[in-house]
Amino acid sequence: MNQDDPYRDPVLYDLEYQQQLEDIPHYVQLARRLRGPVLELGCGTGRITIPIAQSGVEIHGLDASSDMLNGLEQKLRLEPDAVRLRVRYSLGNFCQLDGERQYPLVILPFNAIHHCEGAAGRRELLRSVRKVLRPGGIFGLDCYLPDLLLYSREKGKRYEQRTFTHPVTKEPLETWEEGYWEPERRIHNVIYVYEDPRGHQEKVHLRLNMFDQTEFRTLLHQEGFQFSWEASDFRGTPMRPDSLKWVMELT
Ligand SMILES: C[S@@+](CC[C@H](N)C(=O)[O-])C[C@H]1O[C@@H](n2cnc3c(N)ncnc32)[C@H](O)[C@@H]1O
Repeated sequence: MNQDDPYRDPVLYDLEYQQQLEDIPHYVQLARRLRGPVLELGCGTGRITIPIAQSGVEIHGLDASSDMLNGLEQKLRLEPDAVRLRVRYSLGNFCQLDGERQYPLVILPFNAIHHCEGAAGRRELLRSVRKVLRPGGIFGLDCYLPDLLLYSREKGKRYEQRTFTHPVTKEPLETWEEGYWEPERRIHNVIYVYEDPRGHQEKVHLRLNMFDQTEFRTLLHQEGFQFSWEASDFRGTPMRPDSLKWVMELT
């Protein structure tokens, strides 16, 4: 595993995304509507998994990172039995599901689709999801769309500077983002840097495989998925050609 693997340190992950709350009610409502059990692909430390279980719906999480699943396990220990018993999780690759069990709702929250490499990787994911989706079931996901302003960031320059308090060491952590765009491979690189008071830095490097609306609509159509709902944010604002975010419910 790389030292800058974004999913190596679940504590830093939860610290970085502690303010990321807007998507939680969307996925909880979807789970309550479809009733579950839900399969969450890329469940990570349970940012979405645990609220779904707290809402009374059974959920199975899958993730390729044992570190993130350890983070989920730690958080589940703090939950009452009733919530803990609604959550099952396993280590695995969401592009290689075996279809042993099918679900009325499969979710892939928080831009995790950008971990699939290129059109071939996205096609592999859709075929894998089809195997685990009950006929008539819903596949719910969200993703980013191309953002030219973000891609024009200068390599090595600091953006979004903030100070966090590390939840374990209680020390202040200076943090900022760096980033650069690889046009040929269409990879948006985002590097989060965390610096402790002694100047020691930890880096986390996210490599986001980007695509545009038109090509993903074509791919979905080719793989037999139809939209039952879509929006450009979690409040339901309609899509536009220049939307930067895409929230989808597919069947
Ligand atoms: C952006 S995080 C989302 C985590 C969680 N769902 C949330 O909303 O906070 C993406 C997660 O997908 C996992 N992941 C990436 N590629 C994967 C793959 N091929 N199979 C399974 N999990 C994967 C990562 O380990 C990470 O935990």
